[in-house]
Amino acid sequence: MPITVKSDREIELMTESGRILEIVHNELSRALRPGMSTLDIDRMGEEIIRSYGCIPSFLDYNGYPASICVSVNEEVVHGIPSKSRILKEGDIVSLDAGVIYKGYHSDAARTHGIGEISEEARNLIQVTRECFFEGIKYAKEGNHLFDISCAIGRYAKKHGYGVVRDLCGHGIGTQLHEAPEIPNYEVKRKGVRLKAGMTLAIEPMINIGGWEVEWLDDDWTVVTRDRSLSAHYENTVLITEDGPRLLTYGRV
Ligand code: CO
Repeated sequence: MPITVKSDREIELMTESGRILEIVHNELSRALRPGMSTLDIDRMGEEIIRSYGCIPSFLDYNGYPASICVSVNEEVVHGIPSKSRILKEGDIVSLDAGVIYKGYHSDAARTHGIGEISEEARNLIQVTRECFFEGIKYAKEGNHLFDISCAIGRYAKKHGYGVVRDLCGHGIGTQLHEAPEIPNYEVKRKGVRLKAGMTLAIEPMINIGGWEVEWLDDDWTVVTRDRSLSAHYENTVLITEDGPRLLTYGRV
C-alpha cells in the first residue's frame, strides 16, 4: 500500500476526528481513580465516542473485544478491559483509543498515574512523552521518516530505557493502519521522504527494563518480558511544509 497524501477536505475531517479523540482522552483522564475497573474505562470511553457520532475503531478490529485498550503497569499495549481488573493507587495505566469520524480515523494514547505513583514511574511516563516530542521535531516535509524513529530511539536510550521493537507507529487515514510503518528505534536506512499531507500515528512504547515483550494467553495483551513498567504515548500527526501539526493534542 502506498502512503496516502490527504486532500484539504480529508485533512479537515481528520482534524475533527482528532479533536474529538482529544476530548475523549481528557474526559477519561479526569475520571480515573482507584477502585475503578478497566471495563469501567472502556464503557465510559465508548459512550463518549458515540456521543460525538463517532465509531470506536478498535472495537472488533481483528477481533479485539473493546473500544479502549487499557494496559496496566507491565502491560505495554492492547490490554483487554475487564470487570475484575481494579485500578489501585500507585498503578500506571495506558489508555489507547481510536475514533472514526465520517470515515476518517484518529489514534492516540496516554499513560496516567493512579493517585500517588513512584518517582521511577513518573520519570518513565515523562520521558515516554518527551520521546514523542523529540521525534516530531523531524516531522516535516522534506525530512526522512526514520529521522523521527532515530530521534525517539536515541532519546529513550539516553535515559537507559528499553524501546519496544515488536510494535510500531503507522500511517493513518481512511484505515487505522496505513503505510508506512514507523519504528521507535534507530534504523540504518533513511526511510521515505515526508510530504505535506501525510498523516502519521507516532507512538513510542518505552520500558523501564529491557525492550523485549511477550503476548499473554489472551493473544492481545503485550507485556514486558522482565515485567518492568511500560508507558505509551501517541498522537495523530499531520506533516506540513513547516512542521508537524498535532491532531490529537493541544486543540481543545
Ligand atoms: Co496506533
